[in-house]
Amino acid sequence: MVRRIFIAGNWKMNLTLAASLELAKGLKEQLAGIRDVDVAVCPPSIYVQQVAASLKDSNIGVGAQNVYHQAKGAFTGEISTGMLLDVGVRYVILGHSERRHILHETNEDVNLKTLAALASGLTPIVCVGELLSEREAGTTEMVVREQFEGSFANVSADDMKRCVIAYEPVWAIGTGKVATPDQAEEVHFSIRNLIEKKYGKEIAESVRIQYGGSVNDENAKEILAKPNVDGALVGGASLKVESFVKIVKSA
Ligand code: 13P
Repeated sequence: MVRRIFIAGNWKMNLTLAASLELAKGLKEQLAGIRDVDVAVCPPSIYVQQVAASLKDSNIGVGAQNVYHQAKGAFTGEISTGMLLDVGVRYVILGHSERRHILHETNEDVNLKTLAALASGLTPIVCVGELLSEREAGTTEMVVREQFEGSFANVSADDMKRCVIAYEPVWAIGTGKVATPDQAEEVHFSIRNLIEKKYGKEIAESVRIQYGGSVNDENAKEILAKPNVDGALVGGASLKVESFVKIVKSA
């Protein structure tokens, strides 16, 4: 089974509108010829509409960094799946470690959002990953298993096929301390086993598992070469045309 590599940029809470549009324009120009890699950018939600419009006739998809699970109503400050779709968004990052650890999102929250995203037709990019203390305590596999089971509860086999998982060890995010290709591969392999146990081999083989955490244009190639690494979720290095383009091209 050949899985298409999927490189996504998570811009987090960075850039201005002007800088977002300039970045999108640069990526559109420089990635115009890319056909065999899937690419997406995930701007801050206030900019997604304009970024999506500027990338309309391109091969770059647009994702959001979060969504609320309810369709509409009295949920001040929240944004629904329908609203994202309405402005051209196709992907949504869910359960990012910054949302889990700073904004206290639980596996149950992530699960509701995953189910809502799937029901709407958005592709969820569901993040899992251990803290440094958890890795040092030897509990990485257990933590990732609990996050997987919690986040994908009640997700059907048909829907699972459409999910993307991002393994992002928290200690590697924004620290410059990238996981070694072998460390990434080990966890990706165990995630694929979790999928296989619950959904069978065929689906496990089709789900794409991205690595995230200090990916840059120098380390991307080696990590992406691992058999169970099917892409990257890139933070800091996705904020510059040059480095993001290099990462996509190294795939
Ligand atoms: P960095 O690439 O800046 O470490 O961020 C990774 C990340 O959290 C992507 O979602």
